[in-house]
Order: sequence, then C-alpha cells, then structure tokens
Amino acid sequence: MADTNKKLRSSEWFGKKGKDGLIYRAWMKKTGIPNHYFKEKPVIGICNTWSELTPCNSHFRDLAKSVREGVIEAGGFPVEFPVMSLGETLMKPTAMLYRNLASMDVEESIRANPVDGVVLLCGCDKTTPSLVMGACSVDLPTIVVSGGPMLTGKFKGKEISTSDGWRFAEKLKTGEMSFAEMEEAEGCMCRSDGHCAVMGTASTMASMVESLGLSLPGNAAIPAPDMRRKLVAYHSGQRIVEMVDEDLKLSDILTRRAFENSIKINTSIGGSTNFVVHLLAIAGRIGVELNLADFDELSRDIPLLANLQPSGEFFMEDFYYAGGLPAIIKEMLPRLVTSVKTVTGKTVSELYEDAECYNRDVISTLDKPLKGEVGLAILKGNLCEEGAVIKPSAASPELLTHKGRAVVFEQIEDYKERISDPDLDIKEDDILVLKNVGPKGYPGMPEVGNMGLPQKILEAGVTDMVRISDGRMSGTAFGTAVLHVSPEAADGGNLALVQNGDIIELDVPNRTLTLHVSDEELEKRRESWKPLPMHMDRGYWHLYQKHVQQAHLGADLDFLRGKSGSTVKRDSH
Ligand code: FES
Repeated sequence: MADTNKKLRSSEWFGKKGKDGLIYRAWMKKTGIPNHYFKEKPVIGICNTWSELTPCNSHFRDLAKSVREGVIEAGGFPVEFPVMSLGETLMKPTAMLYRNLASMDVEESIRANPVDGVVLLCGCDKTTPSLVMGACSVDLPTIVVSGGPMLTGKFKGKEISTSDGWRFAEKLKTGEMSFAEMEEAEGCMCRSDGHCAVMGTASTMASMVESLGLSLPGNAAIPAPDMRRKLVAYHSGQRIVEMVDEDLKLSDILTRRAFENSIKINTSIGGSTNFVVHLLAIAGRIGVELNLADFDELSRDIPLLANLQPSGEFFMEDFYYAGGLPAIIKEMLPRLVTSVKTVTGKTVSELYEDAECYNRDVISTLDKPLKGEVGLAILKGNLCEEGAVIKPSAASPELLTHKGRAVVFEQIEDYKERISDPDLDIKEDDILVLKNVGPKGYPGMPEVGNMGLPQKILEAGVTDMVRISDGRMSGTAFGTAVLHVSPEAADGGNLALVQNGDIIELDVPNRTLTLHVSDEELEKRRESWKPLPMHMDRGYWHLYQKHVQQAHLGADLDFLRGKSGSTVKRDSH
C-alpha cells in the first residue's frame, strides 16, 4: 500500500482546493471515479501504443486491463492514455523516422499530466525505444511491459517466422514459389497476437528492457497469447505502485553499469543491430556516457548462447519454454555487474541466480557456447570515420574478410530501378554500396541495408554478398551487411564519394572498412559533391532533417538529448 505521508506529484493537481482542484477532479469523475481515488492514491499512467495500424500491438487493450487490475490491487489509481504508435510494417517511409516524434509525445504526455508513475506498453520495434526515450526525459518511476512475440508460424509442415518473409520474396523472384503460395504463407507466418517471433528488433528491444532492469523477469519472451503475459502485466501494475512509494526512478536503474550489462546480454542472444542505435539514444536521454566503441569492447569476449533465428535455429516461443532471458542472464552472471538494481528493487544476481534452463539446444552455456565471439562489430576506416556496424553472426563467415569492386547506387530509387537489369555490370565478389539512406538522407534511416541481390546473381545460386550503406537492417534479416555508416552520405561522409569500380576492403577481424582511394582523389571528388535537396520544407520531416544526429550518436534529435525532469514550469489554471 502507498505511504500516506509521502507527497505525491499528482497532489499538485488532485490535492488542490478551490477552483483549480474542482476542475482537475470534476472532469475525471465523469467515468465514475469516487472521491477517495483523489486522496493519496498514486496515479499510475498506462502509456498505451495500441493501434490497429500497429498489428504487433493490437492486443494491448487487454494487456492494459491486466496492468490496471494490478495497480488497483496495490492501492493505485490507474489512468490509461494513448501515444503515437509506430507500426513497423505499414508506416512510410519508415517507422524509424517517427521514433523521435513518438518519444516527444510520450515525454510531454507524461510531464503535462498528473501521474506519479508510468507503465509503458511496448511491442513492435520502435514502440519500445520511443517510449523509453520519452520516459527517460521525464524520469519518473517507470516500468516496461512488453507485448510478447507471436506463436511460431506453421506452413506446409514447417516452422516459419517473419525471417522467412525475406526467403519467400527471393523464392518468388526465382520462380521457386508462386504468388498464391506466398499469400497462404502470410497467414501461416503471422497467426497470433504479438510481435515478430524471432530475435528480431522487437524481441531484441524486449530483451533490452529486461537486461537494463526495466521490466519484471521473464518479460522478454513470454508469447503474447500465453496467459503468463497477462500476469507480467498484472504484477507490473502492482509493482509500479510500490516503486512510486520507493521513489525508484528510471535514473536509479539506468546507470552506466546497467547499459554495460545490457550490451553483454544482447551479444549473448545475437540481438539485432538496431539495438545499437536505440541504446545510444536512450543513454543520451538519461545522461549516461556511451559510445559506439563501448559496444565493440564490451561484446568482444561474449559468446553466442541463444540459438535463435535469424542467427540460429529456434523461435522466441522455444526460447521462452527453454527458460527465456532469465536462463541467459543466469548463465551470464559471471560476466555482468550483478549488484546493479532493477525495477523490482532487487539486484541482477538476486533476481536471476535461481533461473533454470530447460533446453540446452536453445540456450547453451558459457563453457560450451553455440558460437564463439560473435558480438556486434564496430568498424572504423576512411569509409566510416565515425563508425559502422556489422552483425557477424548474421553474415557469411567467408565474407567477413573481403576485398571487392564497388557497385554503387546513389539512392534507393536508383537501386530499385537497376538491380534487376540483366545488363547491370555486377559479379558475385563485388560489393553493393547504397547511399543516402541514413538519418538525414532518406530521411529516417530505413531498414534497406540488407538490399536484395540481383536476380542473375541469385539464379547463379549465390545467396550473400557484402553490402554497405548508411541505412539499417531489419532485425529479422541476415546477410553480410555493413550498416549505419557514419557520417552518412547526405552529411558529406566519404560514403558520398564512392564511385563504381572503387576497391573496398572489409576486414571484420581487424574492425576496418577501407575505401582504397587516395586522400587527394577523395578531396577532388568532394569539391564537386553537392548534398541532395531536403525532401520537405515544412512539418516534421523538415524538423527531423535539420536536427537529426548521426547514427553513432543514436539518431536522436539534437534538442531532445538529456532530460527536463517532471516539473511543469508553468501553471495556467
Ligand atoms: Fe512489429 Fe516485426 S513488424 S515486431
């Protein structure tokens, strides 16, 4: 129960006498809320990203009900509110463009309203970082409830997931699959509530919040339709009321050590490359120093423990039944700072030391890992002076050291127009280079970095080539893709100066990406380089293009870094 001696933030609204208090309370009473709810009950905001346009979050009204019941049970006053939802599959040009906008919505909605603590309902890829970023900038007691992955897909006797979408698209190109078969596969792939059922970006984000200590244990992997998902929501509702009592804020949880633990755990599960850009943005909001080099350094001696698609074999459902993230964290305890506190009030070791693994095919041990060191590699070189990211576990091992001729596409439209041209001058050992798909250039840094291979290369039976871009890659995708090249082409990075036929050398073991063109020649090319015109001269796109930071800083808007706290500076009533 709440500590009745504590002055709640919400009492600045509901505790007032006179006209202001009347206004604050009277309109709330329209839904049948009794007088005593306004007296010393912690007000818990349930920040909901439910939307039919975000199919991965379409079950969130039910989830919110469970949170609400937990809040009431613990003596709190639940208030559910919507924020902008980001559906990965439908939003154009890319949901990532709107991550920062949604985070502003979250930040302002929390600060402007009489809430003492917040439960964030997160699911589809960008809904997690945007909500956490926004909440960090207010820094109230906050807990995350993820929506959970879909059940494993079943198609023609085989288990499938959204990762198979990439394979099906290539099979359609080569004629191995008909369109009718593809339509049938679609329903088999997405057959229940929940987000993508592999260790793609959504599951990586759900694991990120658990590994940062922002959710109850087990949150990362419970399938969406499993009743235990509702229990996590219910218990999170109970716990947030206690957190308000304890004044346990996001900044008490999100210490530098928590970020370090999260990077190590992400490495052990083969998490998505998108983890990097989102974690950097979250660190920027809460005020923790974190840079690209930390990801390489901290993940260097961490092996891959989780045998999950797209890097491995199994699905999120299997992961949960095998013990889920708690079993991974238990295994990783010797490599973590275990005294770090979580939203439960307990430390990482207290929380996870008794976790059990039920299937060693899915979750391996540090002594006998699935693969050796495979963490996200951060590359440096004259082609990516501020860095670039590659996920070796999703790449072809033989391509991790490769030298080849550049085949350049200036923009995504150029790529789409020419990639299927039978006269395209391309060989299997060439390197595909795609420019102007970075934060500013596209704008919004879309997931096109694992660009599909030309049909004639696919028909020759080749399934992977080195690909380089300033864009991102879907967490469900795979391939030897160098991503997040920074500075991006649109910001005048050397990527903008690459020409067809230039020789590029990728050396992942030595963490380098080199454009074999002299500095003099690059300077000459720079003199004639012109940035592309802005795509929009008004509205959010315009604001975004003017203020977005480069990928190595998290692609946040420059004026959103840091936090403003929970105090409302002006009071109009
Ligand atoms: Fe929503 Fe994959 S599309 S998680």
